[in-house]
Amino acid sequence: MTQSPTPIHETVREHYAERIKSSASCCGPSDCCSPNNILYPEQLLTTVPTDVSSTSYGCGDPITLASLKPGQTVLDLGSGAGLDCILAAQKVGETGKVIGVDMTPEMIERAQANVKKVNLNNVEFRHGYLESLPVENNTVDVIISNCVINLSPDKEKVFSEAFRVLAPGGKLAVSDIVTDGELPEVIRQSLSAWAGCVAGAVEAKDYIAMMESVGFTNISINPVFFDKQTVDSALDEMKLDVTEYPRDAVYKAVYSAKITAYKPA
Ligand SMILES: C[S@@+](CC[C@H](N)C(=O)[O-])C[C@H]1O[C@@H](n2cnc3c(N)ncnc32)[C@H](O)[C@@H]1O
Repeated sequence: MTQSPTPIHETVREHYAERIKSSASCCGPSDCCSPNNILYPEQLLTTVPTDVSSTSYGCGDPITLASLKPGQTVLDLGSGAGLDCILAAQKVGETGKVIGVDMTPEMIERAQANVKKVNLNNVEFRHGYLESLPVENNTVDVIISNCVINLSPDKEKVFSEAFRVLAPGGKLAVSDIVTDGELPEVIRQSLSAWAGCVAGAVEAKDYIAMMESVGFTNISINPVFFDKQTVDSALDEMKLDVTEYPRDAVYKAVYSAKITAYKPA
């Protein structure tokens, strides 16, 4: 089944096409929600040139969470400029393979250029939607994703597609933005806050319920808190289409999470 892009897909696609063309981040000058040296252990990034590691729009480190092994097939949902695909490809080695899926052609182009810079031939990028993955059933050992599922207008479909393509016993290892409590309504309604990874975030308990409803088991969600200053600068850089909203409610509700789940063997 193919996915027809919704107005949210269009807004998000335009936002990230613009970001990568200007080589700015999704919400700040360096990356999505905090500097890379907070997101990833320093050691992990030593295997890639800095111009590649700095083109990141994530909110965590799905690579460490995934505990990848040589020979595995990995799928990255919303692969952006390709940093996590490159790090994953280095972990799974030549006997393994990595597929990145993204709906923004400009991101795919940059990701392909970045892969050339590091001389890897076990990474492939496919243009497509998370809600209709261009991937065969039961073929993936590990799915990773970094700050993307919150952007989807149909998260349940994303989880059911992830479940479909995972092999039995396969693992989902995701960094994503979730909430604990309500976001101000004015933020919820803001398309720029959606594109900036805030308005589309759902409560952690609803995230878990959606994963359970499609069949995932052994689900865990662990918060990674950012300081107020980091959240503030991300909100400032996001250029929200609203000016008046209680910032405290955003600090309290929104956080990055490390999420793992499994398809039963
Ligand atoms: C915040 S960026 C994260 C990129 C990358 N994971 C990283 O950590 O740098 C979100 C990416 O997901 C893609 N994306 C968002 N929603 C999508 C969807 N429904 N289907 C496919 N790609 C999507 C965007 O095009 C963008 O490249």
